[in-house]
Amino acid sequence: MIRSVVRGVGTALPRRIMKNAEFETLVDTTDEWIVQRTGIEQRYIAADDETTASLGEAAARAALDHAGLTPDDIDIIVLATSTPNNTFPATAVEIQQRLGMHHGFAFDLQAVCSGFVFAVTTADAHLRAGLGKRALVIGSETFSRILDWTDRTTSVLFGDGAGAVILEIEENQGTPADRGIIACSLRSDGSHRDKLYVDGGPSTTGTVGVLRMEGREVFKHAVGMITDVVEDVFAQSGITADDLDWFVPHQANKRIIDASARKLGIAEEKVVITVNLHGNTSAASVPLALGTAVKDGRIKQGDLVLLEAMGGGFTWGAILLRW
Ligand code: ACO
Repeated sequence: MIRSVVRGVGTALPRRIMKNAEFETLVDTTDEWIVQRTGIEQRYIAADDETTASLGEAAARAALDHAGLTPDDIDIIVLATSTPNNTFPATAVEIQQRLGMHHGFAFDLQAVCSGFVFAVTTADAHLRAGLGKRALVIGSETFSRILDWTDRTTSVLFGDGAGAVILEIEENQGTPADRGIIACSLRSDGSHRDKLYVDGGPSTTGTVGVLRMEGREVFKHAVGMITDVVEDVFAQSGITADDLDWFVPHQANKRIIDASARKLGIAEEKVVITVNLHGNTSAASVPLALGTAVKDGRIKQGDLVLLEAMGGGFTWGAILLRW
């Protein structure tokens, strides 16, 4: 059986850290409110010279170094982002050019905060279909560029950053003990599209627009949707919450993460939390959390890892993999 195995992971963050206290001078909020309601203590904000492409390139280079590979070894680039450098061409081809790659193919994928989970699932399907041997999957975002900085209900929640993994096909027995992606589950439901959206676009207003969200509505649906897809990957694989080594959820809000883990019966010490450090970085949040837990030695080869995300659309998805 052919599986996509993770060979390397890398992350990149803007230079500037913005602490909660800075928001107290911009909007009617407090550090205490933000920490209590979200778990966020700080986020990184991109400078003018830091873009989705430059952060994505830096994360990609870090993942290549971690894997001991070069751009020549990559066949496919999939970039998950909702904040591309331009409406077109795809920011993935800019990253391809920055990496000096003139072969293979690169494209963007847009599923908002679920983008990385959708991109890994898509790259895995491409690899197993024989379209390449190795894929570079990146989540990179500059949400600071699409925030309404006068809106306290959204501006305090998001941050910028990037993370990347390298997937490589490997032939193995396809048992739960073998390395690689074991099961994926993706969902979307456009009837929720106006609960979390950007109020501009090339085909409507001709502007970029800013993020609008009914936070309470998103919160209300999040836990049910997350547990739905996780239960699906458990059912597909015969794996249970007790078998997991690590749960790496989308980092939107610590209360959503805690409630999801509780409902799924996943022990607190198995949950990777980085929302306190990064805020919600949308498609970058899962690979940033993965990279952090690999770098600090928590996630090791052979560990059973569960990824999940939920976001605008709504979109939601989960991936079960043996690291
Ligand atoms: N500082 C102080 N007060 C605030 C702030 C703030 N930054 N933001 C909102 N409030 C106020 C509200 O105005 C409200 O006041 P009111 O009662 O006088 O009307 C009060 O706090 C409570 O507001 P709620 O919205 O009920 O607060 P809640 O506990 O739900 O927390 C939050 C809000 C953090 C947005 C939460 O609903 C949430 O996390 N929702 C999910 C968001 C999310 O995950 N989004 C990302 C999805 S991923 C993607 O695709 C981009």
